Amino acid sequence: MPLTIVDHPLAQHLLTRLRDVETPPPVFRTLAKRLTIALVLEAVRGLPTVDLKVDTPLEPAEGRVISPDLAAVPILRAGLGMLEAVTELFPEVSVGYVGLERDDETLRPTSYYEKLPPLEGRHVLLLDPMLATGGSASGACMKLAERNPAEILFVCVVAAPQGVEKMERDHPEVPVFAAALDRDLNDKGYILPGLGDFGDRLFGTGSESGLPRLSRPPG
Ligand code: PRP
Ligand code: URA
Repeated sequence: MPLTIVDHPLAQHLLTRLRDVETPPPVFRTLAKRLTIALVLEAVRGLPTVDLKVDTPLEPAEGRVISPDLAAVPILRAGLGMLEAVTELFPEVSVGYVGLERDDETLRPTSYYEKLPPLEGRHVLLLDPMLATGGSASGACMKLAERNPAEILFVCVVAAPQGVEKMERDHPEVPVFAAALDRDLNDKGYILPGLGDFGDRLFGTGSESGLPRLSRPPG
């Protein structure tokens, strides 16, 4: 399973700002979207294209366009923070959803939602910002693989060594694209140094959300 770290200076700039605990949810959402654009551009480098002739205002020109059999599947919830980047880059993309939630104790994901378009023969971008133990990404790949896509490209923001190893073991055919390979996981399964709970920071839930506290009205 090839792991590609996107070390473009802009990707690293955006990642560093995402990591910063002082970054509040509205800014976090914008940064996540911009970083996803950089990651997806790298992930789709090998997509098939078809030749197309067009007329410029001056003369005919030969070009290439991406064939439309592309699908995107964010893993709920945090993967939603990466979806808009893909739908803006590829307005024709088919979108499916997989809902997985990691148990706080066992760190195993449970599946609570699934809505997928036909994936047979399609190139699928699987989106989840955090590859920690790898349970969620591997579980989602299993669901997608049952539908015979042409390929699955897994795009995340931060990967932990444990998650990369699990993907290598379970889905050696799935390439992983990330902005960083971090050091380790803590005993609660959070990536170190990581960026905290991506879903909480994206949606302003949880104590580390960075949301300014609303002051209570007097009385
Ligand atoms: C987070 C994250 C991944 C998962 C990664 O989701 O978005 O889906 O954890 O961890 P893993 O590699 O150990 O499986 P979480 O279950 O916290 O749900 P959320 O997106 O709804 O916050
Ligand atoms: N999920 C997150 O949101 N962050 C982590 O560090 C690990 C899993």
